[in-house]
Amino acid sequence: MLSEEVQKRIAELKDKFPQRRSAILPAMHVVLEEVGFYNRDIQKQVAGLLDLSEMEVAETLSFYTYFPKQGVGKYHIQVCTNISCMLNGAEQLVNYLEEKLKIKAGETTPDGLFTLSTVECLGSCGTAPVMQINQRYYENLTKAKVDQIIDDLKNKTTK
Ligand code: FES
Repeated sequence: MLSEEVQKRIAELKDKFPQRRSAILPAMHVVLEEVGFYNRDIQKQVAGLLDLSEMEVAETLSFYTYFPKQGVGKYHIQVCTNISCMLNGAEQLVNYLEEKLKIKAGETTPDGLFTLSTVECLGSCGTAPVMQINQRYYENLTKAKVDQIIDDLKNKTTK
C-alpha cells in the first residue's frame, strides 16, 4: 500500500535513533503525508520496515490520537474530555455535537463527512473546552462557535 519512495524514507529512519521505537512517530508522519491515515496493513508494513513487532507500533499508535485510522470521516472531530475541558463543559459539547451531527461519539456521519471522538488532554487546558478537527485546534468553545465551525466545514465541502 505504501509507495516505494515512502518505504525507502521509513527504512532510512530505522537506524537514526538510539531506540528503534523512536522512529515510529517520524515514520507515521511520512505515512500521513502520503496516505492520510493508517490501517492494520500499514501498521504491519511500518513495523516490518523498522524491524519492530507490529505490537510495538500498535502500542505507540494507540497512545497518539493524532494519526487517523482508516475509516474516519473527512473531518475527524476530537473533543477533549479531560479535567479542564470537562469542568468547562466538554460533556455538554459532546452531547451537542451528537445531536447536531445525529451520531454518537465513535461514529461517522452517513455522508462520511464527520467522525466524532472523545480524547484525552490535547495540551491546551488554558483554553478549555477544546476540540481538534484534523490538524487544527478550536478553543474556548461555545455552542455558537461549534455551529459556526461545523457550518463552515459543510460549506467548504459543498463548494
Ligand atoms: S484538559 Fe482539555 S486540553 Fe487539557
